[in-house]
Amino acid sequence: GAGLNDAAVSIGQVYFGSATDNPELSDSTYVKQLSNTADFGQITPGNSQKWDATEPSRNVFTYSGGDTVAKLAQSNGQKLRCHNLVWHSQLPSWVTSGNFNNATLISIMKNHITNLVQHYKGQCYAWDVVNEALNEDGTYRQSVWYNTIGPAYLPIAFATAASVDPDVKLYYNDYNIEYSGAKAAGARRIVELVQSYGAKIDGVGLQAHFIVGSTPSKADQKTTMAGYTAYGVEVAITELDIRMTLPSTNALLTQQATDYSNTVSACVETKKCVGVTIWDWTDKYSWVPNTFPGQGAACPWDSNYQKKPAYNAILSAL
Ligand code: XIL
Repeated sequence: GAGLNDAAVSIGQVYFGSATDNPELSDSTYVKQLSNTADFGQITPGNSQKWDATEPSRNVFTYSGGDTVAKLAQSNGQKLRCHNLVWHSQLPSWVTSGNFNNATLISIMKNHITNLVQHYKGQCYAWDVVNEALNEDGTYRQSVWYNTIGPAYLPIAFATAASVDPDVKLYYNDYNIEYSGAKAAGARRIVELVQSYGAKIDGVGLQAHFIVGSTPSKADQKTTMAGYTAYGVEVAITELDIRMTLPSTNALLTQQATDYSNTVSACVETKKCVGVTIWDWTDKYSWVPNTFPGQGAACPWDSNYQKKPAYNAILSAL
């Protein structure tokens, strides 16, 4: 029968997808389901295109991990969301501790963007150009980028990416910008800032790393998405997962299904929401237990690859 991507495409979305990561690609059962285009028409490398993986020392570029995921997408006929170019995290110490001045750090950032966008030209549906530039109160995060270059690092990053590949979609991506409030206002200001410099920005990515039972309402998610699309950009749910305090119970799984349905429905009911990406499809390889101790079971499939109630809830929402 129809799967998640089939259902998404049939109602006019561009894809339904999943993140993946290189270590789990040695698990053939895992790869078989990841490659099932009835469910997944798009994949995102969870780590292997990040700065620490791609430019571990200055101007030395390594693409092997990212290329493995890109080739898998290509052989499966799946779109690739490319993730990410400029972020404060998973940034090698040669960048964070180099004490570079403004001009030098701009050239380092431009060089990184130019090399990655050139290397993956023609292979990405979109690039997350800047990831997580905001504090919770909507002000700019004190990253090496902001502290050295100032807010202009954002438009410079987008303009650089656009100059190398005018066709790939360029996204700003962040978490806690799925609901109304100061951080969402900050994300709107970023879109405005980039546009005010005359640089191209095509989309806002809403990560949607949520907690069972405390996700924003569907109405609030729709309102927030509309706040971005008002600037002429598209939106996407880019890293959806909905974690719980373990152990998983039937009640939590039922609530989780409702929560997944609300977010997917908000995207479905937003004309310019192009698709939903879950941050891996099975609990077996979810990042959650490693990052949030005591929490997990965040994905639509359990660690034995069995579909949870969330799966059918997503399918029904599409
Ligand atoms: C996570 C990966 O899934 C983990 O394997 C890694 O240890 C840390 O990063 N927001 C993002 C993603 O934009 O890149 C993060 O991915 C999850 C939060």
